[in-house]
Amino acid sequence: MNKVTVIGSINLDTNLRVKRMVKPGETIHAQEHYSAAGGKGANQAVAAARSGCHVNFIGAVGNDAPGREMLALLKQDKINLAGIAVVDQESTGQAFITVDDEGQNAITIYAGANFAFGRQAIASKQALIAGSDFVIAQFETPVEATLAAFEIAHQAGVKTILNPAPAMSQIPADLLQLTDLIVPNETEAATITNVEVVDEASAREAAHKLHDLGVAAVIITIGSHGAFYDYQEQSGLVAAYQVKAVDTTAAGDTFIGAMSSMLKPDFSNFKAAINFANRASSLTVQRYGAQPAIPYLKEIEQVK
Ligand code: RIB
Ligand code: NA
Repeated sequence: MNKVTVIGSINLDTNLRVKRMVKPGETIHAQEHYSAAGGKGANQAVAAARSGCHVNFIGAVGNDAPGREMLALLKQDKINLAGIAVVDQESTGQAFITVDDEGQNAITIYAGANFAFGRQAIASKQALIAGSDFVIAQFETPVEATLAAFEIAHQAGVKTILNPAPAMSQIPADLLQLTDLIVPNETEAATITNVEVVDEASAREAAHKLHDLGVAAVIITIGSHGAFYDYQEQSGLVAAYQVKAVDTTAAGDTFIGAMSSMLKPDFSNFKAAINFANRASSLTVQRYGAQPAIPYLKEIEQVK
């Protein structure tokens, strides 16, 4: 069972189901309204925990009701909350998510407390990081904090996994040099490499550019096509399970969390780890909401 430390965001998601996306200047009616626990970091932590990992979380929430609610839910998934700060000056992060009848989503986030920590906060988490198999981060929390954590991981021989989401074009070069495995989706891969990723050949081209930036291992998720991986002699496309998606929110997060629970710390089993992650995310897209949709190990093992 892998030990992972996730540095990332915790959001309260407000979800609206609509027939189609609203256009600028327009008003439309929603079919349904609900709230759920979310945040890319928290979703990835929950996916890893439900797949059987021991998970530590580093992040921050506000001193408010949503923050307490989000922490209580993470605790139910047995995630170690010792690395989470409760801050007075900012509210808990929030995301406003619209999902249309095609299962597509549009998300606006208010980062709030997710941006209320930096490099200093990481120093005291050294033991958590150094005792892990993997450290996982995204871009919904300060990049300075991630850099500090990846430096500690690197020194301790702990593998670092970067999910460059939401997409950011100017990723600090030193962050990529400290990244062992990068997991962008096709859009994020294009933002970083300027290669439009549509199939295996273009994914390989983008992966080579990411290697040139200093990242040894690359996985590019390509929606319903599956995921392409490239690490030393291991390379190929692992097909996704074909299901009817109703809501793709947190599908990428599920992929990363589940993959991290199966991947061997020596990176020797990419194909098997990705197949497991594809099973997990095929369940997430068939359910509404972020964390409520993330499957448990038993369910993932039953996917055929
Ligand atoms: O990746 C999905 C997540 O992105 C949502 O849960 C939302 O909180 C946003 O952070
Ligand atoms: Na979903």
